[in-house]
Amino acid sequence: MRYLVLGSGGREHCIAWRLLNDGSASEVYVAPGNGGIAQEYCIAIDPNDFDAVKKICFEKKIDAVVVGPEAPLVAGVVDYLSKEKIPVFGPSRQAAMLEGSKLYAKYIMEKYGVPTASHRDFKGKDAILSHLGSIRDYPVVIKLDGLAAGKGVCVASSPDEALQFVSENCSADSTVFIEDFIDGEEASVLGISDGETVLPFIAAQDHKRAFDGDRGPNTGGMGAYAPAPVIDESRLRKVRDEVLVPVINGMKKEGHPFKGILYAGIIVRENDIKVLEFNVRFGDPETQVLLPLLKNELGGLIEASINGNLSEKILEFQPQHAITVVIASGGYPGKYAKGKRISGLDAVAEDIIVFHAGTKREDGRILTSGGRVLNVTAKADTLMEAREAVYREITKISFEGSFFRSDIAHRAIAAR
Ligand code: GLY
Repeated sequence: MRYLVLGSGGREHCIAWRLLNDGSASEVYVAPGNGGIAQEYCIAIDPNDFDAVKKICFEKKIDAVVVGPEAPLVAGVVDYLSKEKIPVFGPSRQAAMLEGSKLYAKYIMEKYGVPTASHRDFKGKDAILSHLGSIRDYPVVIKLDGLAAGKGVCVASSPDEALQFVSENCSADSTVFIEDFIDGEEASVLGISDGETVLPFIAAQDHKRAFDGDRGPNTGGMGAYAPAPVIDESRLRKVRDEVLVPVINGMKKEGHPFKGILYAGIIVRENDIKVLEFNVRFGDPETQVLLPLLKNELGGLIEASINGNLSEKILEFQPQHAITVVIASGGYPGKYAKGKRISGLDAVAEDIIVFHAGTKREDGRILTSGGRVLNVTAKADTLMEAREAVYREITKISFEGSFFRSDIAHRAIAAR
């Protein structure tokens, strides 16, 4: 099989690595790819340029397309390629609204009885501003509808913070909603679906804040590990039965069957689980710890999702632990420099996998080209062993201004 993976991050590098390494694929192209991927397999096109994607599929005789990021899904890449009879893994434009519109996700959750925080929605800045005056209990969560590249959510702990977020981010056209703040521990549960059946992965936990101790600004994710013990077997069954299955069944009833990866951002408080949000694609960096632990051939699962026969599959995972730590550019998630030379990549131990994200190759050198640059990943029989291996090896890699969190998996370790 020849695959085309759309995207350029650590997630896409990991998907391509996995397809090649488990025997699913003879060739994997990545568009646009990054500096960690053999350059002859990187295709310099924009994944949102569907005509260009189609052209590459025909040129390279691609058997299936795997879509990494949300933007092309929400813009309808699956509908577009399906019309051209190109097999593609992911949800249709309508089904991708579960991520594309947080309000649509709320509508589906409320209609199909999926546990989530109660909310009120408002149209326009004035409406939301006048409501802010009546809020007595803080913190509250304010969410902008639509894709916002991780910047559409504010947990405001005071009226001033709420006012500042609304003033800076809302216009007369904005759809905004306010929901109750739920205190608890977050985890990511991904399910693969063919529109009928949904099979949950083991849970992973991301670390969204930039700095140790979960301090600093929100990022795309600074590291992850799996399995996340906060989602034990009984909670995983609860997420499957009370979240994933009702949404898959509901989307079918709505006439928009969901195929691909349904990612539920879950918050756990004692025995209660609630959905914070849905994504409609593999998580980044969760993928970098889930796929190394997956026993099944990834390509077989992707084909089963596309062809509608996932009910014949059982998802299996190695009884091990994986951890990935992101090395980021100084200043990220704010302003940061690019083009810094990365050294030490050849020095890391062979059992460590370094998935590239914001990197590029130039004259045989690997340079930084983004905020999240590398994902240093290990798996082992225990979480402690995997963590020790990552933190032992990560210091061998550096570039000017690089930084990483030194406490990935701290919750699992504290809970032991
Ligand atoms: N890890 C967060 C995300 O993939 O959106």
